[in-house]
Amino acid sequence: MCGIVGYMGSSGVASILLSGLKCLEYRGYDSAGIAYINDGKLKVTKASGKLENLEKLLTSDRSSLLAVSGIGHTRWATHGVPNDINAHPHFNEDQSIAIVHNGIIENYAFIKEELEGQGFKFNSDTDTEVIVHLLTREYNLEKSMLKAITNTVKQLSGSYALGIISSHQKDTIYAVNHHYSLTLGQGDNEFFLASDIIAVRQYTNKVLRLDQSEIAQITKTDVSLYDFSGRQVKRDFITVDSDPYLINKDGYKHFLLKEIHEQPTILRQTIGKYMAHPTANLDFNIQPEPLANSSKTVAGIHLTKNDIAGIENILILACGTAYHAGMIGKYYLEQLCNIPVNIEIASEVRGRTLLVNEKTLVIAVSQSGETADTIAALTEAKRKGAYTLGITNRSDSHLTRIASNLIITECGVEVSVAATKTYIAQVVSFLMFALYLAQERSSLSQEYINNLKLELHSLPALVETVLANENIIKESSIKYAKANDMVFIGRGINYPTALEGALKLKELSYIHASGYAAGELKHGPIAVLDSSVPVVTILMPGSVYDKTLSNAQEARARNAQMIAVACSNDEKAPKYFDTILAVPPVDELLSPVLAVIPLQLFSYFISDYLGKDVDQPRNLAKSVTVE
Ligand code: AGP
Repeated sequence: MCGIVGYMGSSGVASILLSGLKCLEYRGYDSAGIAYINDGKLKVTKASGKLENLEKLLTSDRSSLLAVSGIGHTRWATHGVPNDINAHPHFNEDQSIAIVHNGIIENYAFIKEELEGQGFKFNSDTDTEVIVHLLTREYNLEKSMLKAITNTVKQLSGSYALGIISSHQKDTIYAVNHHYSLTLGQGDNEFFLASDIIAVRQYTNKVLRLDQSEIAQITKTDVSLYDFSGRQVKRDFITVDSDPYLINKDGYKHFLLKEIHEQPTILRQTIGKYMAHPTANLDFNIQPEPLANSSKTVAGIHLTKNDIAGIENILILACGTAYHAGMIGKYYLEQLCNIPVNIEIASEVRGRTLLVNEKTLVIAVSQSGETADTIAALTEAKRKGAYTLGITNRSDSHLTRIASNLIITECGVEVSVAATKTYIAQVVSFLMFALYLAQERSSLSQEYINNLKLELHSLPALVETVLANENIIKESSIKYAKANDMVFIGRGINYPTALEGALKLKELSYIHASGYAAGELKHGPIAVLDSSVPVVTILMPGSVYDKTLSNAQEARARNAQMIAVACSNDEKAPKYFDTILAVPPVDELLSPVLAVIPLQLFSYFISDYLGKDVDQPRNLAKSVTVE
């Protein structure tokens, strides 16, 4: 979704802002623009479409190369179609103030009516434009940009982040964060601003993350922080030593393919972090990781044995792929810990009474840690007194400030919009957490726990075996690239795998695909089947194998094209399926991790074969920061 960058220093602003925007491309966008001060005047350049369009306009504009302060933006349309006018930055009539904005201003219609009544002229269809006119009105009264900003934020509702530049105060840019994410980077007589630490880390390892409801006044030599009442706040930049935020394709054709191939390493890191070796105790009390300075970041599980014994129910909140990981988490927690677990799509709990209390553990799962619906639902659960746990890949995210307990998956940045490596890291995190709770609540024998720990440690090598068959999977996949619809079915612990397989195919290839619980096929979906529809069955060994095979037969009897994800030693599968995407034999509990790998590759190869934008599929955003 939208991305903000800013720069205040002494070198050419255009190239620095563009390079920052390139780092944010992966979030998804449909237009881009920058504003900068040159010769005392504020200039704005923007273009719809990819960043190349903006880059072309800027190469013929020497003033942007000389300017030393500016703000930039990639826009993912919410209010108004993607075009040059709705693109950010937005500016006022005399072009003295320009802003870039992430988020949504919920009361914009009301403010717009009021401002129009006072003679302000609007050019765009965006909610953003009200902010620039409000700032203008307040500046005209106060003759101070800082006061204009503090007056303006008091009138806005919603969650948002802003970058502000003005010819009234040429040596300064401003950043505002209200329940969003903005990170500052400190260079040598220069400061960088970005919605994602990735765009800052390319220049400096001294970072400071803005807290909620905070304003930063940024000059070439200094940053001053203020709360929304205008009181100064003191906090220092911190030095980040590790480099999880430096990104490249490492020779792979796409980030997605690279990320699929990183999965064995990611499993080793994520499992190894909490359980150094198969016989080690699970230890979630990892020390805080100060990845970006904010007033609160925790890591680890801080629940006492008594807290854990007292948990009466669990609620999992997530969206998209993280929701599918949560469904597998529900299975683990119920089967291994005997605790009733509910799971909700986070956007579906808005406007409803959330039935949680002091005996509920609420687990929010989010790769980005910025998904607005997940954050909002978790915040509400916390307000109601529930224990909170966040599972995220971004230790510098919004989620890490809200959740009182954290499991950080160790995946590095996931650049491709379609989640792959973070999904399997979430699944194994759930399994390890369930084993931890089972151990603390004595719901499983130690022998059973020890066996599962051994199996867990063998997973990375099994994933390597699947990846080694990549070429066979490629050949099998592209045979189905011309399909218009596909159906994915699975049961029990692999019903979520079917949902995830269908989601990956939709996202990457734009082929319509639906995932169903295999037993549900005959209750309706079977009506769509005929010889033109490939049906992908997740046929893993274990308690539901026979029933899943029977359901697949129902599809076969309708002449569907039959594909199975099955174990390489499965003797029955070749009799019933045209294509087998093989994985090594595996314990049922761990099978979702293996079964999803060929499905990721299946979607990848079809997408690449069809010439789709693999890493940045149309209409999608990596961090969905609006509700
Ligand atoms: C995954 O492939 C998707 N792009 C999407 O469904 C994603 O999982 C969802 O938006 C949730 O994101 P989060 O994990 O960052 O909260």
